[in-house]
Amino acid sequence: MSEAILIVGCGSIGERHLRCFQRAGQVEVTACDANPALLGRVAAQYGVAGFGDFHSALAARRYDGVVICTPAHTHMDLAIAALGHGAGVFVEKPLGTSLAKVNELREAAAKSGRFTAVAYVYHLMPWIRGARDFLRGGEMGRPLHASVVAGQHFPTFRPAYREIYYARHESGGGAIQDALTHVANAVEWLIGPTSRVFCDAGHQSLEGVTVEDTVNVTARNGGALVSYALNQFQAPNEMTLQIHCEGGSVRVEGHEQRWSAFRRGADGWEHHKAAPLERDDLFIAQARAFLDGLGGQPTALSTIDEAAQTLRFNLAALESARTGKAVEIP
Ligand SMILES: NC(=O)c1ccc[n+]([C@@H]2O[C@H](COP(=O)([O-])OP(=O)(O)OC[C@H]3O[C@@H](n4cnc5c(N)ncnc54)[C@H](O)[C@@H]3O)[C@@H](O)[C@H]2O)c1
Repeated sequence: MSEAILIVGCGSIGERHLRCFQRAGQVEVTACDANPALLGRVAAQYGVAGFGDFHSALAARRYDGVVICTPAHTHMDLAIAALGHGAGVFVEKPLGTSLAKVNELREAAAKSGRFTAVAYVYHLMPWIRGARDFLRGGEMGRPLHASVVAGQHFPTFRPAYREIYYARHESGGGAIQDALTHVANAVEWLIGPTSRVFCDAGHQSLEGVTVEDTVNVTARNGGALVSYALNQFQAPNEMTLQIHCEGGSVRVEGHEQRWSAFRRGADGWEHHKAAPLERDDLFIAQARAFLDGLGGQPTALSTIDEAAQTLRFNLAALESARTGKAVEIP
């Protein structure tokens, strides 16, 4: 049986989701975007029905799932409406820009009984999942100290960064809500939730915007001390995460598509490299996982609660950068 999927917001990531859902299985996709020229192009290119208004799209028919790919400040209102319609929801990261609607979203999800997830795509990366499965196996003992060093040249990947949500904090912009949130969510998935954040952030390089493009964070995730150093102007597109535990160390190198373990007393790293992946492959796997979730199967996708916790991280980091003080996350 074919699943009816509505993609709301067919910009950069929405178009990718549309294409990847079409390739993920028996799916009938409908597109919705407030920009008529963009909607017309996408609807024609992918051979799908298109709506310029979300509520008209909901009124027109029933959907099994709604994929929300608009700027972050609109995510929760759209998700609540989609759940009210009886659809499952898949929300792009970050979950939002404020905690105000989180409880309403949780209640709408519980009332509808439909599957919900948040598109933190690192959950689909074999090198993150391999490290997580290994850590959860318990052999390494408790995580004590972790560090992330990451960056990329954002203008290469999003030449339009000045004109999109990225330019303003209110719409989910800046390095903290746009990029750091991916790795903070991954670290929380690997070693548990953040409990304290101290953040220094600055605008160092990107032309035409004033939001931070460079971030240093020192955090606590329960019993582990964690640090993040991330910028969005460096030439190499790299992410290295190290987690040092009682019994040894685990390392994830996103750019090498591998995770590694160094057991205490061993001679060196034991590497686990994933089979080569194209960028769409992760999003096709992610779309399949959402379809599995709609079908009642377990998935590795981020839950609303996990994404709400990472939203607390984002907000704490922004507050700390603003005030110069550490922020506790209760
Ligand atoms: N997971 C990832 O790798 C990844 C990558 C890029 C963006 N994102 C996230 O996806 C979201 C969208 O980012 P983007 O880069 O695609 O932005 P974008 O600006 O390219 O696209 C957003 C689209 O949403 C449309 N839109 C806005 N409000 C709407 C509404 N109420 N109804 C219908 N359409 C509406 C706009 O017209 C626009 O076309 C952001 O939250 C961003 O953080 C995630």
